[in-house]
Amino acid sequence: MNEIGVIGLGVMGRNIALNMVSRGFKVAGFNRSFEKTKELIEQGIQNFEGFEHLEEFVASLSKPKKIFLMVPAGNAVGLVIDELLPHLSEGDIIMDGGNSFFEDTNRRYERLEELGIKYFGVGVSGGEEGALKGPSIMPSGDKAHYPYIAQILESIAAKKDGEPCCKYIGPKGSGHYVKMVHNGIEYADMQLLAEIYLIFKYIKKYSNQKIADIFEQWDQREVSSYLVRISADVLREKDHQSEEDLIDIIEDIAGNKGTGRWTSMEALKQEYNASLLSAAYQARVMSNQRSLRKAMQEPFANLQFELDDELIYQAYALSKSIAFAQGFGLYQDASERYHWNLNLKEIASIFRSGCIIQARLLQEIMDAYDSGATQLLTHEKFAAQVKDYKHSLQEVAIHALKLSLPTPVLLNALLYLNQLSSPALGANLIQGQRDYFGAHTYQRKGTEGFEHHDWNLNAR
Ligand code: 6PG
Repeated sequence: MNEIGVIGLGVMGRNIALNMVSRGFKVAGFNRSFEKTKELIEQGIQNFEGFEHLEEFVASLSKPKKIFLMVPAGNAVGLVIDELLPHLSEGDIIMDGGNSFFEDTNRRYERLEELGIKYFGVGVSGGEEGALKGPSIMPSGDKAHYPYIAQILESIAAKKDGEPCCKYIGPKGSGHYVKMVHNGIEYADMQLLAEIYLIFKYIKKYSNQKIADIFEQWDQREVSSYLVRISADVLREKDHQSEEDLIDIIEDIAGNKGTGRWTSMEALKQEYNASLLSAAYQARVMSNQRSLRKAMQEPFANLQFELDDELIYQAYALSKSIAFAQGFGLYQDASERYHWNLNLKEIASIFRSGCIIQARLLQEIMDAYDSGATQLLTHEKFAAQVKDYKHSLQEVAIHALKLSLPTPVLLNALLYLNQLSSPALGANLIQGQRDYFGAHTYQRKGTEGFEHHDWNLNAR
């Protein structure tokens, strides 16, 4: 009998199935259109059995049946679950390995729980290669049933220091929440690197090759990460048709599939400021404002600046730390809000390999939580970085502004620090205005109580 079934044999699903097979598991495969299944069958992969009919696919699985869904997030997940249900019985397990919205996962968990079916939301990061060789995996659901799937998930996950980059996250949809915010951080770091690229290109007038060299050097330092490395690769790549640098023929318009938008929306809902993550999403939105951009386009101001590469490095390093701090701040807030009891150190630990945001910084984050940090930015190492690098961030952001070079995430990083460190935010005037027009009350300095002032409006 097969130990696990994979539904959805697109690139990600196929690679996950092949990863499972390569770790010695017997895997059943099913895809809505049989073509993809057939392709795999024809490869004659040992321990892989492909099925044309769902019923036979499910029947081939040992009890409790374990089914891993790799279908596009959204309605498709619900449809597959509905088709599966008549063939499942109590204790069987469905895992959703796609980028589903965590509230959909909560809902599906509750519905299936009533039917005795165990539902796990499984965040998976690492792209196509990660899926095949070892992704970072964020499973959530009923902890008592996690042991049934732990061996498979932990075997296929990336490893760091011998440890699998897969840890039980928490109840219901918390794994998909963790994956969603992972993507929010991913958007922020990608946008930061795009802004640094603009600075090198338009302020320093460096070639793509030189910027790639610098990113490679940075990869030896504290900002070392997968995204820094692949940015160097992207900048070095040649177009196969024209022999030009590929980067120069790619349209300046970014796509997105929703997880960055959800992160921003959840941050707003939670009343938690994840401004860098939101600015990164908005930057992608702005890149799509084709007609407005075209109508308003002007050349960059023709100014000459001296800007040291090291300042640019420090501006990036600090902004990257703030982006991660905002993401982990969201985790902490969500953990309390939803009673998930998230282990932030473990989350940092499973991001260290396999996933898109894998970075040296995650070890610092683990160390900070180890030594009892509750807020990353006030922890020793991060506080020192703020102190040492803030001036560089200021310099770089000011230069970019003067040139009208759009660097929204760098600017938001600076703004965020300014808001945190400012002795005054002007919120006292807001409270005065609110009390004036709506008797919303204000808090008198140094007291707990709220009071309303008699503004004597009739007299005005
Ligand atoms: C990952 C990626 C992956 C995918 C996202 C982002 O962690 O492996 O985040 O899940 O690339 O969906 O895609 P968009 O940039 O299209 O939103």
